[in-house]
Amino acid sequence: MDTTSARENIPARMLSDIEGLAVELSRLAGAEIVNSLGKLLAVRYKGAPEREQRWRDPVSEVDGRVEQLIRTRLAERFPGHDILGEESEERPGRGHDFVWAVDPIDGTTNFINGFPAFAASIGVLYRGQPIAGALWCASTHALRAGVYHARRGGPLHFDDEPLKQAQNPAIMRRLAGEPNLAHDKAHPFEVRKTGSAAIECAFVAAGLLRVARFERPNVWDVAGGVALVQAAGGEVMTLGSGGWEAFEVFSESGAEPDKLDIRNWHQPIIVGERESVALVRAMHTSVAAA
Ligand code: IPD
Ligand code: CA
Ligand code: CA
Repeated sequence: MDTTSARENIPARMLSDIEGLAVELSRLAGAEIVNSLGKLLAVRYKGAPEREQRWRDPVSEVDGRVEQLIRTRLAERFPGHDILGEESEERPGRGHDFVWAVDPIDGTTNFINGFPAFAASIGVLYRGQPIAGALWCASTHALRAGVYHARRGGPLHFDDEPLKQAQNPAIMRRLAGEPNLAHDKAHPFEVRKTGSAAIECAFVAAGLLRVARFERPNVWDVAGGVALVQAAGGEVMTLGSGGWEAFEVFSESGAEPDKLDIRNWHQPIIVGERESVALVRAMHTSVAAA
């Protein structure tokens, strides 16, 4: 894949239009989700040996509906662009430089249980590099639903306002979305895992979480969030064949060799503030080596 810098290739006006459309799509998703509240939803489980009661990967009627709304609007505006969505394998523009990675609801288990930690995530990739993201989040720092969004180069916005992280130096113990932190080890974190990788990325970008790690994400779980974290000045690392390295691009080569499709990319990633990423990386490396 040609990974020529996205910054050199995309006119500023186009980048801004793409961010604008991503925001529009995530608001469309949010409105549909809000509209479904209080209704008895059809839910099925994608990975479901029912007799063993190990229901996994729920999907509600709203997930599919939201993805379809997004696909329709996107096709009107950028008919040639590729769309990688969780709920449909349709690839209208496969091979196009622009890919819209869409998770109509990230945190579906939370959503169907009424637990307000879920998001509608739109990430835009250019030749695999995240260039814009817009995440409608059911819960935010503002104690209401809203959209965190950014394009490459920043700044991060919340709805219509730029968002700056304001850190209180009196707070010594910060929050980390890291599944394996031992409480008895010396580190400056408390663990918060939410059940939505996308909302954790948005919370990292906004400074509510210092860092988060994901073991086997899908592109659509994190593409929008990675764009936000990078635009907010955070760091993104991925575990490649040679160990932890700076994240550059979602690529088919990151997929299982026999399934070369960006849909099958599942590399571990850490997103966050530089020092915290280094700490988590070191802890994770020592856990893996132990
Ligand atoms: C899930 C969430 C969750 C992660 C799972 C994902 P979904 O997405 O991101 O945080 O641990 O691996 O599948 O299914 O709710 O869209
Ligand atoms: Ca997801
Ligand atoms: Ca989903």
